[in-house]
Amino acid sequence: EKGGFEYFMLKEIHEQPKAYRDTMLGRIDEQGEKVILPELKLTPDQIMNIRNIQIIGCGTAYHAGLVGRNVIETLVRIPVETDVASEYRYRSPIVSPDTLVIVVSQSGETADTLAALREAKANGAHVLAITNVVGSSIARDADDVIATLAGPEIAVASTKAYTSQLIAFYLLGLYLAEVRGTQTPEAVKEMIQAMQALPEQLDMMLEQSESIKAYAEQISHHEHLFFIGRGLDFAVAQEGSLKLKEISYIHSEAYPAGELKHGTLALIEDGTPVIALVTQESVLEKTVSNIKEVSARGADIMVITYEEHAATLLKSVDQVFVIPKTLPLLSPALAVVSLQLLSYYASLALGNDVDKPRNLAKSVTVE
Ligand code: M6R
Repeated sequence: EKGGFEYFMLKEIHEQPKAYRDTMLGRIDEQGEKVILPELKLTPDQIMNIRNIQIIGCGTAYHAGLVGRNVIETLVRIPVETDVASEYRYRSPIVSPDTLVIVVSQSGETADTLAALREAKANGAHVLAITNVVGSSIARDADDVIATLAGPEIAVASTKAYTSQLIAFYLLGLYLAEVRGTQTPEAVKEMIQAMQALPEQLDMMLEQSESIKAYAEQISHHEHLFFIGRGLDFAVAQEGSLKLKEISYIHSEAYPAGELKHGTLALIEDGTPVIALVTQESVLEKTVSNIKEVSARGADIMVITYEEHAATLLKSVDQVFVIPKTLPLLSPALAVVSLQLLSYYASLALGNDVDKPRNLAKSVTVE
C-alpha cells in the first residue's frame, strides 16, 4: 500500500508530478492556450462583477490560500484577502453578492472551514470550494467546486493536496484573467506552458531528494530555526515551517525577510539555522541584504534558489539547494517540495512516526 516507500508521506511527495498532471487534465485547451473550467457554474457575467475575493482555510490549506491571493491579485487585479477559517467567522467579514469566497480544504470536512463557508453563504457570497474530496460536506454546501485530483492523502502532514491546491489556484487565476481580459493571450500561454513543465521539473527534483537529507539531519539537532522570504517565498516559508513543526517537533518560525530587524533578529545566535527562500527575482537584492543581516549575527544559512544565483549566494551563505527555473508565480509549486523533504528527513532522523505526528488528526471535525 505504501508502494515501497517507508512512509505514506514520502509516497505522497513522490505522487506530486502525477497530481499536477491530473489536476490540469481536461482544464487546458488542446492548443495549450486557454484554461477551461467546464465545471464552474459561476457565469462570465458574475465574474465581471466580482468586487473582492476572500480565501479561507486552515493550516496547510490556508497557506495555499496565501499563494492563491498573490496569484489572483497579480493576474486579475481583484483585491483578495486570505483568512484562517476560525478567525474569519468571528471577525464580521464584509461580504456582498459581489464577493467570491473560496474555501480550501483537502478533506472537505474541516469544521472551521465548513462553518466559515456557511457564514459566507448566509451573507450572500458565491462560494467556490477547492477540495480533494468531491463527496465531502464542503463540496456539497458550496455553490461551485474545483476538485483537486491528488488522490487520497493518508499522511497527516499534507503534501500533494497543498501542491494541487496551488495548481487549482493557477488555473482559476488564469481563467478569471481570461474572462476579465486582464492578461494578454501571450502571457496566458506562457504561464500554461510553464505549468505543463512543472511535473517533469518536479520529477528531476525528486531524483535528487537525497541531497537534502544530510542537511535535514544537521538541523534535527537544533531546537529552533527560522524560515525567511519575501512575497511568495514568505508564503512558502510559512508552509515549510508548519510542516517541520508538525512532524519533527522542532520549533520554527517563518518570517518576512524584511521584518527580521524589527525584533526577531534578537533571536539569531551563532549557529542558528536560517532557511532562506530566494526565488522572487524582483526582490532578490532585498532578500540578499536580509541574508547578510542574519549572516553577520552568526546564523547558519541554507538558501533555496535557482542555479543562476547559486554561485553569488554561496559567497554569503553556507549551503545552497537549487530548484529548476520557472515563472515567479509558479515557484511555490517547486520550492515547497524541498521543504517537504526537509521536514520528512528531519522527522525520520529523530525517529518520529512521520505519518502520525503526536496530538494531531488528519481531519479536524471539531471547532
Ligand atoms: O482537510 P483540510 O485541508 O481542511 O485540513 C486543514 C488542516 O487541518 C491541514 O491542512 C493541516 O494543517 C495539515 N495537517 C498540515 O500538514
